[in-house]
Amino acid sequence: MKLYEALAEKLTLQINNGYFQPGDKLPSIRQMSKTHEVSISTVQEAYRLLEDRQIAEVRIKSGYYVMSSSTVAPKLLNISRPDPTPVNISQWEAIVGLLYSHEDHHTLALGKGTPHVSGSTIQPLFKLISRFSRNQHVNQLTYDSLQGSETLRREIAGMMTHSACQLHHDEIVTTTGCQEALSCSMRAVTQTDDVIAIESPSFYGTMQIIQALGLKALEIPTHPETGISLEALEMALEQWPIKALLITPTCNNPLGYVMPDDHKERLIALANHHDFAIIEDDIYGDLAYANPRPRSVKSYDTEGRVLYCSSFSKTVSPAFRTGWCAPGRYIEKFKHMKYVSTACGSVLQPRAIAEFVAKGHYNRHIKTMRAQYLRNRDMLIELVTQHFPENIRMSYPQGGYLLWISLDESIDTSDLNKQLAIHGFSIAPGSVFTAAKKFNHCLRLNYAQEITPAVRNAIKILGQVIHASVGHPTEND
Ligand SMILES: Cc1ncc(COP(=O)(O)O)c(C=O)c1O
Repeated sequence: MKLYEALAEKLTLQINNGYFQPGDKLPSIRQMSKTHEVSISTVQEAYRLLEDRQIAEVRIKSGYYVMSSSTVAPKLLNISRPDPTPVNISQWEAIVGLLYSHEDHHTLALGKGTPHVSGSTIQPLFKLISRFSRNQHVNQLTYDSLQGSETLRREIAGMMTHSACQLHHDEIVTTTGCQEALSCSMRAVTQTDDVIAIESPSFYGTMQIIQALGLKALEIPTHPETGISLEALEMALEQWPIKALLITPTCNNPLGYVMPDDHKERLIALANHHDFAIIEDDIYGDLAYANPRPRSVKSYDTEGRVLYCSSFSKTVSPAFRTGWCAPGRYIEKFKHMKYVSTACGSVLQPRAIAEFVAKGHYNRHIKTMRAQYLRNRDMLIELVTQHFPENIRMSYPQGGYLLWISLDESIDTSDLNKQLAIHGFSIAPGSVFTAAKKFNHCLRLNYAQEITPAVRNAIKILGQVIHASVGHPTEND
């Protein structure tokens, strides 16, 4: 981390902890430089970073101020404390229920993990799709190669330089979504009964892969701002034969944190020392609010032990089912697993996506989306703060579009969902994000879509139902 980034982090922490309040004037550049014994330009860079992140604002001839309350972190979650033993995962029934509820178009699915797909910056994609489908070339009606379209892989290698990965396109294999990339990665590095370490909470889709492969999941305590505790992981490594670690370190689902660079570097050192594989899920990484986007764990890997997985499902659209993996030293095994899984992907969609990236539409699109998601995050946090009980805790996402909320422990959010069905909307209940039955009182909300009056109303009703569940009826009850 550079000096100005470290200073910006320190200030952010002070703001989040209430040391500086919304609207407060921050110390002058000269004063900061003296206090922190850094150069004037370091302070200027740090303040500019806070401005980019919309944490501070500059007022002409006056200085830097903390932004208004809506942009300041809410009461943060505590570090999770999962059970310290590997467990079998079940919960398939709960997940099927969740998936079915998402298919019901009469229900407003507030917990769904889908991006905003109706903006103008995605329109060029429709043109590309129709151009490619009009082009009646027989090559489009055949199998793609096992490794996947070279044109697309070249574009992906270019995109990955933004997370500081310098890869040749032959080190990349395309997949049917990130789910297949993760599934083939797990198969490439584990065998039945192996222990795989995961974050706590974790995305339910990947936990189902663990379940289906007969692996045991070991949940590692996870900090809502920095990710898995490396100390806890190290202790677990002493105790259990961990074969692989599966993490989403950049714009995590569901917590939205970005693991700091020095943690990513330390994690690689741990993996090298203890000889385990890292499956890095970077599906939300390009949606980080910081610019340039954070580095990936893969970018620190010198031994080829990181299997980097991603897709266009969260950044562009899940409809394309276009993902990829850079499996490092496991590439041959990975290709075999892909062959067993789908043999090869489709030809048309990757071509359209490759062109979308090559023509610069992808970069324009994610720039617009990041700004929209950041605005929506603050609006949603403000709404939740206004309508939910005071004792809730929330994540403070640094990218993506998912908010994690922890309610009073007496509330079971799966039960809450049954009540919400009457009002025509649903949330993602916390229980599906863990194997250890720890997050029954938590929920996940999506803020990718515009915060419309219908969404505002749903959040208000959600707040009323929660108040009623803990025995605090609101005036609207
Ligand atoms: C963290 C994470 N990884 C992987 C996936 C699966 O991605 P895809 O739709 O590209 O298969 C999802 C989808 O929700 C996700 O949230």
